[in-house]
Amino acid sequence: MPHSSAYVFDAYGTLFDVHSAVGRYRGELGDVADQLSMTWRDKQLQYTWVRALVGRHKPFDEVTADGLDFAIASVGGIADGLRQKLLDAYMTLDAYPEVRGVLSTLKAKGAKLAILSNGAPQMLEAAVTSSGISDLLDASLSIEDVGIYKPDPRVYQLAVDRLGVAVGDISFQSSNRWDIAGAKAFGFRCVWINRFGQPDEFADMIPDTVLTSLAPLPEV
Ligand code: LAC
Repeated sequence: MPHSSAYVFDAYGTLFDVHSAVGRYRGELGDVADQLSMTWRDKQLQYTWVRALVGRHKPFDEVTADGLDFAIASVGGIADGLRQKLLDAYMTLDAYPEVRGVLSTLKAKGAKLAILSNGAPQMLEAAVTSSGISDLLDASLSIEDVGIYKPDPRVYQLAVDRLGVAVGDISFQSSNRWDIAGAKAFGFRCVWINRFGQPDEFADMIPDTVLTSLAPLPEV
């Protein structure tokens, strides 16, 4: 059944390892590397939610830089040159090892495949190209087209509109539990990729399936 269904993927944390940017400079960062990376990610996301609620949108590359600036200030003692190196690394994050194989298998089954991400278009293009998965994707959809961040329902609607697939025929994969809450409330079938063994939350907006990586997805 070609194109009767679609798999839509969150990008950061789901396809791409957000901690791989800091990981490349672990030697220079030393003991504070993990704290820096966690704070960076937490702040980046907080800024998206605040900006969405306040109605002051700013693209994800800028929010990502703002989050890094907070993290650097909070951790302290980070060498000056690293800021730009980390931001550059964020443009070419590592894909998780199973990503290419899983996307290939799903594509061979005739499903439409797309990214739906907070990432600005040029960030998504860079990440998709550097990880070598552009040939497998039918679309890389950025929230920039609606000008508001996840989990605003307009973001999930973008996937329905662009892919031409009914809400109930879209399987949405994210490692971000709050993104799964938004996608479930919208009406997608949802697969939470719980990569880090997090406890569940949002009991009224639960995933249909929970996996620890994308690897088993074609069998679900
Ligand atoms: C994204 C963020 C939520 O890719 O990780 O949309």
